[in-house]
Amino acid sequence: MGDLGQKIKNYTRSIKRRTFGISYGETWQGRNNKFYERLHSTGLIEHQKFLSYLKSKQDVKTILEIGCGAGVYPIKYKDIFEKFEYTGIDISKSAIEYCKNHSNFNFLCGDFQKMILSEKYDLIFSHGVIHHVYDINEFLSKIVEKSEKYAYILSSLGYSDELEDHEMEWAEKEAVYNSILSLKQVNDTLIKSGLKENQFSINPSETDSENSTGTLIEINKTL
Ligand SMILES: C[S@@+](CC[C@H](N)C(=O)[O-])C[C@H]1O[C@@H](n2cnc3c(N)ncnc32)[C@H](O)[C@@H]1O
Repeated sequence: MGDLGQKIKNYTRSIKRRTFGISYGETWQGRNNKFYERLHSTGLIEHQKFLSYLKSKQDVKTILEIGCGAGVYPIKYKDIFEKFEYTGIDISKSAIEYCKNHSNFNFLCGDFQKMILSEKYDLIFSHGVIHHVYDINEFLSKIVEKSEKYAYILSSLGYSDELEDHEMEWAEKEAVYNSILSLKQVNDTLIKSGLKENQFSINPSETDSENSTGTLIEINKTL
């Protein structure tokens, strides 16, 4: 699409937002690979940690990434990901279109929480998504259901062991939540989803930002 086409699209979107508001997921429609590369470059500590984790898993064949954006992981680290059967899911049509045009991995467009997935995956991972979703517990339960062995879920928006409930703040303009997870809720949801206490951990996770610690949820069903 040319510059004019993009400008018209952005203008139409801004009118629609002002007139009707936008619905969940729309804020990521039209996002390009530059946006996702920029995001990726702000989380280098988390990415290195995840890549070491991935390297340590010898019994993983199939991988699902939720919120893969423009496919920064499978494209940038192709040599690592081509050892696996990788599938990326994202709600953003433009991001998935970019992935399909730039990579031969498997990509699906849709809302993970609403999609019907027939398969299970040895490892499910998701970075920077859980703190935006509209139903955190449902998001987690579905990950447990669809994971065969492992899951690695990272929220970069904070860590608090004091909250009874998730602290969910609705960002009107972007139509997403910015939430801080309640460890109690995460724990209860994972147990309700059928996991035993020793099959998961919830820990603070260092981020690139000095002022922020993330929350890392690791699941290991093989224990
Ligand atoms: C903040 S970006 C993070 C992108 C990338 N994972 C990273 O860490 O740089 C969140 C991504 O998750 C996607 N997303 C959010 N909610 C989703 C959902 N329910 N199902 C599928 N994708 C979703 C968005 O479209 C967006 O690409």
